[in-house]
Amino acid sequence: MALQKSLVLSSLVRNSTRTASVVLQTRPGSWWTGVEMGPPDPILGVTEAFKRDDNPKKINLGAGAYRDDNGKPFVLPSVKKAEKIMSEGNFDKEYAPIGGLADFCNEAARLAFGNDSPVLAEKRNATVQGISGTGSLRIGGAFFNKFMGNKDFYLPTPTWGNHIPIFGHSGLNVKSYRYYNPATCGLDFEGAIADISKIPEGSTVVLHACAHNPTGVDPKPEQWKEISKVMKDRKLYPFFDMAYQGFATGNVDGDAFAVRQFIEDGHDLALCQSFAKNMGLYGERAGAFTLVCKDKEEADRCMSQLKIIIRPMYSNPPIHGARIVTTILTNPELRKEWLVDVKGMADRIISMREQLTANLKKEGSSCNWSHIIDQIGMFCFTGLKPDQVASLTNDYSVYLTKDGRISVASISSKNVDYLAYAMHQVTK
Ligand SMILES: Cc1ncc(COP(=O)(O)O)c(C=O)c1O
Repeated sequence: MALQKSLVLSSLVRNSTRTASVVLQTRPGSWWTGVEMGPPDPILGVTEAFKRDDNPKKINLGAGAYRDDNGKPFVLPSVKKAEKIMSEGNFDKEYAPIGGLADFCNEAARLAFGNDSPVLAEKRNATVQGISGTGSLRIGGAFFNKFMGNKDFYLPTPTWGNHIPIFGHSGLNVKSYRYYNPATCGLDFEGAIADISKIPEGSTVVLHACAHNPTGVDPKPEQWKEISKVMKDRKLYPFFDMAYQGFATGNVDGDAFAVRQFIEDGHDLALCQSFAKNMGLYGERAGAFTLVCKDKEEADRCMSQLKIIIRPMYSNPPIHGARIVTTILTNPELRKEWLVDVKGMADRIISMREQLTANLKKEGSSCNWSHIIDQIGMFCFTGLKPDQVASLTNDYSVYLTKDGRISVASISSKNVDYLAYAMHQVTK
């Protein structure tokens, strides 16, 4: 017995010594000692800070997600109905094809280009389902890195923060063109045209199709036509990011104006779509990437290569969100209801812009806030300076990104008075 005990003990000691020596061997020079703590995401980090604040009046205007007038996440009634229809259907949980659900891809392209688009009639589009807008941009980035001779990607200044790393990680050369004029809180149209006119032939220009993020500043139709002409003359490739179709004006066709104008002007183009905002499918990750090609034969070749890119990345996309989108877009009644839902969201945002401006005036602000109404879509670029943003957050518990961008979709009739008060306090 004593012998047995001592054997067990000695083996325990041996094992623990071995463990200790492994730890000793690996700790000083462990695999990841060189990994530094990274900074929080500039947008998602705002929400993390908001959650830690216990001020009951706190407002989170950082995240780009629609809220109802009670400040709650909003599941669209048309989405709920689509899910009910789906739950009664006989859907399996098999893998989607590499390029995603075919019906979803067709419907996404139809929504973007319009029912009567020659692109669809001539089958010139290579459309794949992507992991929402971000994943679709990433597929596009990978395709351009592999097949576009000129790897220069020109982005508007400013642009959605994630564009730069997405295209950078794709191996592209990220460059910029002027877009926003801080002096007017509006479009720097002359600057944009002047810069685009100098971009070397064969480069790619990224354009926000509508509801530019973060500025909320879009070109007018006549200005889009001029941008299209300059890009055609200079042989520049248009790469559209359309994350907010329907969110700008409440009209899905009106918001697709720029994309359709470029097609009419004879451009071939790339298009990324997201259903996160216009169907409220944030976490479902439903989106699409399209290349509009010269003809069907070219589209087929591009499609084959898109699948080759996707297969080792994530194999195939998630099915649930894509089924919701397809159910809504293919059921005429449900589609009508969805269009009412989108309009309702866009109108609530527009009304919050008006109320915020009116309340700032009521507070006695002498600043010019007309851009709050002039800008469009989910975001407003307030023009607040970094110290004013810091004071809003530190002294009034109003959370927003450092560039002064606020998500108007998070303003409600319950917090608009307090927000106007706080904005006036930091700007008076
Ligand atoms: C301009 C722009 N593009 C793409 C996206 C992608 O969003 P998601 O990946 O959630 O569809 C966003 C989201 O905020 C955006 O603002």
